[in-house]
Amino acid sequence: MGLFVAIEGIDGSGKSTVIEELRKILPIYATKEPSDGPIGRLIKSWALRGGTTDPYVDALLFAADRLDHYQREIAPALGEGRVVVTERYVESSIAYQGAAGVDIKFIELINARVPAPDITVLLDIEPEKAVARVSARSGYVEKYERLEFLKAVRSIYLRRAAERGYVVLNAEEPPEAIARRIAEMIRAAANPAL
Ligand SMILES: Nc1ncnc2c1ncn2[C@@H]1O[C@H](COP(=O)(O)OP(=O)(O)OP(=O)(O)O)[C@@H](O)[C@H]1O
Ligand SMILES: [Mg+2]
Repeated sequence: MGLFVAIEGIDGSGKSTVIEELRKILPIYATKEPSDGPIGRLIKSWALRGGTTDPYVDALLFAADRLDHYQREIAPALGEGRVVVTERYVESSIAYQGAAGVDIKFIELINARVPAPDITVLLDIEPEKAVARVSARSGYVEKYERLEFLKAVRSIYLRRAAERGYVVLNAEEPPEAIARRIAEMIRAAANPAL
């Protein structure tokens, strides 16, 4: 079996950027959620653009996409012994749909069929700074990108990280430095050949 790593953090915390840097350091299988499968595409084209109004519907869609993503993509890559790095996983559902009012126990229950990552990294940043980065990136703001909401998301992320011992990294450091830290953790946990 390979090694399974999840990179978490609010919108604009730099997950995609750091994973791009990590690819330059280590051979990884990089993937993300929502996935490119049919349920992930439905989430991106419809739910995240205001199609859903009940956060429980979102929680169910994300959980369904995640189980499909795990079975279709993550498990096979792990089976080949690869280091799989996913941008967002179960903790994203807990933080985002939790902040939107869904009972966290319910989110845990509907995600119970996917395994926990070996390593979860939280890229932490003040929402004001993350929002400034995202608005520099594009004018369009998804429903889960609003500032007040992201403050609630961040606080759930930080609480869960403290409870569960996730690695919290300062997302304001340069992406290459953050990627090097994650690469060290992966090397320490994976086989020494990496
Ligand atoms: N460590 C960093 N320092 C400064 N700017 C950064 C850093 N990481 C990312 N950025 C910039 O912030 C913006 C958002 O980064 P990125 O798209 O990687 O975030 P993300 O966490 O993947 O967001 P999303 O949740 O929307 O996918 C980009 O313009 C990127 O260049
Ligand atoms: Mg991203």
